[in-house]
Amino acid sequence: MLARKIKENIYWMGSVDWDSRLFDSLVPLPDGTSYNAYFIEGSEKTVLIDTDDPSMAKELMAQLEGIPKIDYIVSQHAEQDHSGTLQQVLEKYPAAKLIVTPKAKGMLLDFMKIPEECFITVADGETLSLGNKTLKFIYTPWVHWPETMVTYLEEDKILFSCDFFGSHIATTDLFVTDEGRIYEAAKRYFAEIMMPFRNVIKKNLEKLEPYDIDMIAPGHGQIFPRPAFILDAYRDWTLGEPRNTVVLPYVSMHNSTKLMVDYLVTALVNKGVKVELFNLTVTDVGKLAMALVDAGTIIIGTPTVLAGPHPYAAYAAFLANALRPKAKFLSLVGSYGWGGKTVETLAGMIPNLKVEVIDPVLCKGVPGEDTFNALKDLANTIAEKHKENGFM
Ligand code: FEO
Repeated sequence: MLARKIKENIYWMGSVDWDSRLFDSLVPLPDGTSYNAYFIEGSEKTVLIDTDDPSMAKELMAQLEGIPKIDYIVSQHAEQDHSGTLQQVLEKYPAAKLIVTPKAKGMLLDFMKIPEECFITVADGETLSLGNKTLKFIYTPWVHWPETMVTYLEEDKILFSCDFFGSHIATTDLFVTDEGRIYEAAKRYFAEIMMPFRNVIKKNLEKLEPYDIDMIAPGHGQIFPRPAFILDAYRDWTLGEPRNTVVLPYVSMHNSTKLMVDYLVTALVNKGVKVELFNLTVTDVGKLAMALVDAGTIIIGTPTVLAGPHPYAAYAAFLANALRPKAKFLSLVGSYGWGGKTVETLAGMIPNLKVEVIDPVLCKGVPGEDTFNALKDLANTIAEKHKENGFM
């Protein structure tokens, strides 16, 4: 794809990756992604903000064919999907200076062979003049690594945000036109990449408050011409109270756990609690991660196998622990044959979750009346706790 004009003397560059289905060998990409770089032509100096994923380097290099000079390359984030073409760009423009945070400099020196004299490190809040345009660098750690910063173009009021406010989506629409579609993609991205750093993101959002932002240009996905849309969504996902929702990932081997889960879902719905149900044998983990953003309670359904939880249930617990959602309650339901340590094993896997654990409901073999009564009590308890906490 050719470079595309965003505003006078400001261009999108980079690539749209329609084919990738897994990011970092970890995150599902049902809709592909894009790797966005931005080229700015000031009256005196030119700058390229970020580069491209190494797999798509040819696209960026082709876009730079007609650009005779780049004075600065801003590398906002050292992860390879943004920095992976730096060496090639620097080979084409050997006089260019690489603008980074001090932490990013260390990381880039670790990851690739870039001569140390190329680097200029900037302090938090430092500015760089391009003549008639001014870049301001704002440290925003942990979106998504500790070295990350964003760049504010003062005269045009554009925030170049790299991973912050991104979404994994491949499209030829440069700007957001369908906020519903991008809300889903951005929420999924937040859940998978940003949610573990919620507390730091809160501080980063506060740090951006004084800035008058007309447009947010992220490193993945579409540009936001109405920044309030994504800023409000981030405030809700980061600061908002959990919802009156139970997220229930489960796996069943001989149908007993499934019978329990089905009964519990009905009991919760009867008490006015929304349930997001995920059969872990067929679940898209990105969807599960996204549901965790708003969950008030997490319940894991698992049979006991080889004296512990089913591996899929262990994976769900590991994922929830790693993503650190804001859920306040957690429980467990499941069937066992003759014993085991399912509860103890799962409880030991969630040290990061600040949750109250509600008594699990376990049943030997096929569930009967006692088990169903216990599940009804569990649903009542959850509904009451959600009400007491004001979950809407
Ligand atoms: Fe898009 Fe953290 O890289």
